[in-house]
Amino acid sequence: MTGGDLLVRNIGELATCDPAVDSDAGVILDAAILVRDGHVAWCGAEAELPAHLAGAASAEVDAGGACMVPGFVDCHTHLVFGGERAGEFDARHRGSTYEEIAAGGGGIRATVAATAAAGDDELLEVAAARARRATGAGTTTIEVKSGYGLLPAAELRLLDLTRDLAARVDADVVATLLALHSTPAGMTQADYVDLVLAELLPEAAGRAVFCDVFCDAAAFGVADCERVLAAARDLGLRPKLHAEQLSASGGAALAARVGAASAAHHEHQSPGAARAQAAARVGGVVLPGAALSLGGPYPDGRALIDLGMTVALATDCNPGTSNTIDMRLMIALAVGLLGLTPAEALVAATRGAAAALALTDRGVLATGRRFDAVLLDAATHVDISYALGGVAVKTTWVRGAEVVA
Ligand code: NIG
Ligand code: FE
Repeated sequence: MTGGDLLVRNIGELATCDPAVDSDAGVILDAAILVRDGHVAWCGAEAELPAHLAGAASAEVDAGGACMVPGFVDCHTHLVFGGERAGEFDARHRGSTYEEIAAGGGGIRATVAATAAAGDDELLEVAAARARRATGAGTTTIEVKSGYGLLPAAELRLLDLTRDLAARVDADVVATLLALHSTPAGMTQADYVDLVLAELLPEAAGRAVFCDVFCDAAAFGVADCERVLAAARDLGLRPKLHAEQLSASGGAALAARVGAASAAHHEHQSPGAARAQAAARVGGVVLPGAALSLGGPYPDGRALIDLGMTVALATDCNPGTSNTIDMRLMIALAVGLLGLTPAEALVAATRGAAAALALTDRGVLATGRRFDAVLLDAATHVDISYALGGVAVKTTWVRGAEVVA
């Protein structure tokens, strides 16, 4: 924020997610927080707020005893796409599998066609609407993957739209090139991988921060994913993976080899692969919306945390497997279905998710960090999962600025 300090006082529970406070949700009761230049200048129990700092604030918010948490970091989304696939969702609940639908011409390729048919303005408008809904639900940073273009020009179009999206929404947007998602119709997979290496990666460098691949028996094999991720890394794009979602793909081991920032899904990960990923200090992203939408199985979030892995939560917002932008719901599902405690789920949606994007300036409310924060219409962070994600957001701040709905 510019033009003076902001003081938020009378915060009944400040769940900082700061491990320096405690190993749980980092709760400080009856707290206050002082914001200067978009960052936390001081936070703690209000009774300990130094008088000279209180006096310096030019604006004050009374939190009314409510709970404040760090802004949610949605570290895995496919936000820019055209069309919808409700019919596939219905078909899956009548017995078809994701793989059968994809083999029949649906799935990712259906969204690729719908995205190609939509104009730039239309795609930008629907993506911005999703991002605004996310911010209204407490999300302050959103990773956005390409992946519904496939051919180089179409993938670069999605990255350029993501840049335009970043300019028109309040949340911070982190762009990821999803370089291998599906093979374009009429091409062999080998030819497509060569095209990605020769024509897509060099152009995408500078337009994205990360490079992701869909490493799965139904998608791309470990060898192709490794070639693409290694080349991307050499161009300055940090690797990330979809791994072990539909099959035990070997993707988590690859994540360790290429120094990935994180690897997502874990539904079909063996205990040995999870141990290796944890030992390699590669963060694990669990996506309960996708697992729920596909009818299970669920990743064993409890086991991942018990291995010492830095676990992150995200929506995986996409039209095929997770039609939601709501991190509150992900927190509730992580508690109800993945075995996390309410505090662990909140930390995974904030600090853990920031780590999955290699961001050290957010995800925690502590001195020096960005003031990305959410004031909830609730007394404690436990209410997020207790209310099955239904807790209302009173106010969202991104880098100290209040988001106006
Ligand atoms: O994260 N796994 C690959 N990508 C998406 C699904 C994409 C789609 O079905 O459109 C996912 O679940
Ligand atoms: Fe995904």
